[in-house]
Amino acid sequence: MSSVSKIMESMEYGPSVEDSGAVRDWLAGRGSFGHFIGGKFIKPGQTFVTSDPSTGEALAQVTQGTADDVAAAVRAARKAQTGWAKLSGGERARYLYAIARHVQKRERFLSVLETLDNGKPIRESRDIDIPLVARHFYHHAGWAELRDSEFPGHAPLGVCGQIIPWNFPLLMLAWKIAPALAAGNTVVLKPAEYTPLTALAFAGICQEVGLPAGVFNIVTGDGATGAALVGADVDKIAFTGSTEVGRAIAATLAGTGRRLTLELGGKSPFIVMADADLDAAVEGVVDSIWFNQGQVCCAGSRILVAEAVAERFEALLNARMARLRLGAPLDKSTDIGAIVDPVQKDRITAICRAATDAGAELIGGQPADGCFIAPGYLRNVTPANPGMEQEIFGPIATLSTFRTADEAVELANNTRYGLAGSVWSESAAVATDIAARVKAGVLWINCANLFDAAAPFGGYRESGFGREGGRAGMLDYLAEPAVKSVKEPKAQAPMAATGGEAGKAGGIDRTAKLYVGGAQKRPDGGASYAVPGGLAPLGNRKDIRNAVEAAAKAGAWAGMGGHARAQVLYYIAENLAARTGDFADLTGKAEAEAAVARAFHYAAWADKFDGRNLQARPGHLLNVIPEPWGVMGIACPNTQPLAGFMSLVMPAIAMGNRVVVIPAQDDPLAVADLYQVFDTSDLPGGVVNIVTGARDELAPVLAAHDEVAAMWYVGPSAGLERVERAAGGNLKPVWSPVNRDWTGGQAQGERFLRHATQWKTIWLPYGA
Ligand code: NAI
Repeated sequence: MSSVSKIMESMEYGPSVEDSGAVRDWLAGRGSFGHFIGGKFIKPGQTFVTSDPSTGEALAQVTQGTADDVAAAVRAARKAQTGWAKLSGGERARYLYAIARHVQKRERFLSVLETLDNGKPIRESRDIDIPLVARHFYHHAGWAELRDSEFPGHAPLGVCGQIIPWNFPLLMLAWKIAPALAAGNTVVLKPAEYTPLTALAFAGICQEVGLPAGVFNIVTGDGATGAALVGADVDKIAFTGSTEVGRAIAATLAGTGRRLTLELGGKSPFIVMADADLDAAVEGVVDSIWFNQGQVCCAGSRILVAEAVAERFEALLNARMARLRLGAPLDKSTDIGAIVDPVQKDRITAICRAATDAGAELIGGQPADGCFIAPGYLRNVTPANPGMEQEIFGPIATLSTFRTADEAVELANNTRYGLAGSVWSESAAVATDIAARVKAGVLWINCANLFDAAAPFGGYRESGFGREGGRAGMLDYLAEPAVKSVKEPKAQAPMAATGGEAGKAGGIDRTAKLYVGGAQKRPDGGASYAVPGGLAPLGNRKDIRNAVEAAAKAGAWAGMGGHARAQVLYYIAENLAARTGDFADLTGKAEAEAAVARAFHYAAWADKFDGRNLQARPGHLLNVIPEPWGVMGIACPNTQPLAGFMSLVMPAIAMGNRVVVIPAQDDPLAVADLYQVFDTSDLPGGVVNIVTGARDELAPVLAAHDEVAAMWYVGPSAGLERVERAAGGNLKPVWSPVNRDWTGGQAQGERFLRHATQWKTIWLPYGA
C-alpha cells in the first residue's frame, strides 16, 4: 500500500517499451535497400547508413540516388502515367482505398519503424502520424472518385517529383502522393536522407495492393539526389523543407514552365491573451513546440503572452515543462524523444548559444548525451536576437510579452514567414479578430498543431505557396482546362522620344502620364516613348517603387468588404459603358465591350467567391477563407491592350488586392484613358497603379519587390524566366496565364479569382 502511495506521489513509472522485434526482423532480412522503380526494388547501388538517432545504432543501408537513377525513375513514371490517367476515378480510388486499409493494418509496424528511424516518441507516431497517413489516403480515395465531377475539364499534370523532409517522414509522403495519384499523376518521390525507411516499407504496400508498376517510384539519397530530381523531366516539383533549398529550387525551375509548390519554414506565433484559459494554453504549448521535439514547420515557436498574465502563465509553463519525460522514443511514456541527427542537434544548440550570447536567458533546453535536448524556452529576447529571428527547429520556444491586442498582432506579423499561428482567448470576438489579422496560412483558435486531410495547409510569404489537403490541395495537382493560345508579336524596344514626334489625339498633342496613388504622375526619368496615338511615359524602377508604395498604403480596400467593392466595379462598368464609343475608336468594339463585361462580371463575383466550412474533426469547425494577397504585380500581354488589362486587373481588385500594372507595352494609351474612368467611379487612390514602359525590364523589378506578394505575367518565356527568378528571392508565386483572346469568354471566370487569393484555414472550437 505504502509503495503505491509513494508511486502516486512521485509519479514515477517503469519503462513500457514498445516491441520492435518484427521491425528489426524485417530490417535484418533486407539489410540493404535499392530504389523502388517501376514497381520493383532495384539492386542497391552505393549506399549510406540510416540509423536510430536515440542510440546511434545502424538500422539499414540505403542507396544514394544518382542522376541516372532519377532519370530511370522518371522514365518509369512517364511510361505509367497515360495508363494511370486513363483509369476511371473509381478505379484509382480503389487503389488509394486499398493503400489506406493496408496502412491501417500495419499501423503498429509503421509506427515502430518511424520511431526507430526518426527518434520521435512512439506515442506520436502511433497516435498521430500513422493514423493521419491512413486518413489522408481515405480522403483522397474520395477525391479520385470525385475528380471529374468536382473539377470538370481539369487534367493531371503528368509526372510529379516530390521531395520531403525528415520530421514527419511517412505523413509527408502521404500528403504528397495521395493528391498526386488521386488527380491522375504519377510520382517520383525522394525521401529525406535521415528517414527513408517508412517510405521503403510503404513501397511494399504498393506492391501488395497491386498498384500498377511505375505509378509510384522512390529514389533515395541526399540533397544531390533531390537536386537531380528538380532538374529532371518532371511536370511539377512539390517540396517541403528549408526555405534556402526552396529558394534554390524556385531559381532552378524559373522559366521551365514546370509547376511548383513549396512548403517551407516558419516561426509561428503562439498568442496568449489575458483572458485565455491558461492551463489549456500551457497544454497548447506542449502540443505546439514540444511536439516532435519542436521539429515541426508550423511549431508555435514564438510564445507571445499578455503582460497581465505572463507571470502566472510562466509559472504554469515551468511546472508543466518539468514533468515532460525525455527518453527512449520507443517507451510509451516518453514525451520528448531524440533529435533526428547530430547535425540538427548541433544546429539547435548553436542557435541557442547565439541567442544567449545576445542577451537571452535559456530556461531548460539543455542538451543531453546522444541526440537529446530537453524542452525549454528563451526569455528576454529582443526582436533582433538570433533566437527570435531564426527557425530553431528544436524544442526551444521564445517567450515575450505584449500589452495590447494591436501589439500582439504586430509582433506576430514581425517575421518573414507566415505558415501558422495559434490564438488563445476565451472571447470569441478577441480570438477571431486576432486570427483575422495574423498573416498566416493556418490559424488555430484555442488549439494547436491539428491537421486533417480535408484541411488545406500551407504558408503565406516566405513560408511558401500552394496548399496540401482538401479541395485546394487537389487543384495544385491538376491542370486547368486548356485555353487556345494567341502568339504575341515581338515587342518593339521602347525608345525615349525626343519631343518632336509627340503624338496627336484629336488634333492635340498628347503625352500620357503614369497613374500612381490615384493621381497622374510624370515618370521619374521624365522620358516618354512613341506609341500609336501619342506618347507614353517611360517608367523606370523608381516609378515601380513609388507605385508599390502607393499600393501598399491603400490597404483599406481589402477591408471594405465584397459588397462595397462590387459597387465600385459596377460603377466602373457603368462609366465605361457610357464611353464605349470612345474606347471603341481606340481599340475596336470587341475590346471596348469586353472591358465593360469584365468590370460587370467581377462586380458580380466580388461578394461571391467564398470560402468553405469544413467539419473535418469533431469539436472543430474549419473556416477556409480566400484572402487577397495584398499588393499584386501584373504584367499585361502586348496584345489587346484594353481587354487584356481589364481581364487581369478586375478579378485582382474584386478580391481586395491592390495592383501595380504594366500595361501593353506597345499600345498603352487606351489604358491611360481609364484613369478618368477610375477617378469618376470612386475607386480609392492606390488600388490600381499603372506604370507604362518596357514590360520585360519593369516586370522583374516588380517581381523582386518585397511588398509585392504575388505576380501575374503574360508574355514570352524569356520574360517569364526573368520574372520567376526575381520572384524567387522572397518566394512569391508567379502565375502566367496563357496569352489568349482577351475579349472571349475564356478570359474571365473563377480561375482568375483563385489565383488572386490565398487560402487561410482557421480552426475554431465548435460544439466541443
Ligand atoms: P533540407 O531543406 O535540406 O531538406 C529537406 C529535403 O530536401 C531533404 O529530402 C533533402 O535531401 C532535400 N534537399 C536538400 N538539398 C536539396 C537541393 N538542393 N535540391 C533538392 N532537394 C534538396 O532541410 P535540412 O537540411 O534537413 O534541415 C535544415 C533546416 O531546414 C531545419 O533545421 C529546419 O529549419 C528546416 N526544415 C524545415 C522543414 C519543414 O517542414 N518546413 C523540414 C525540414 C527542415
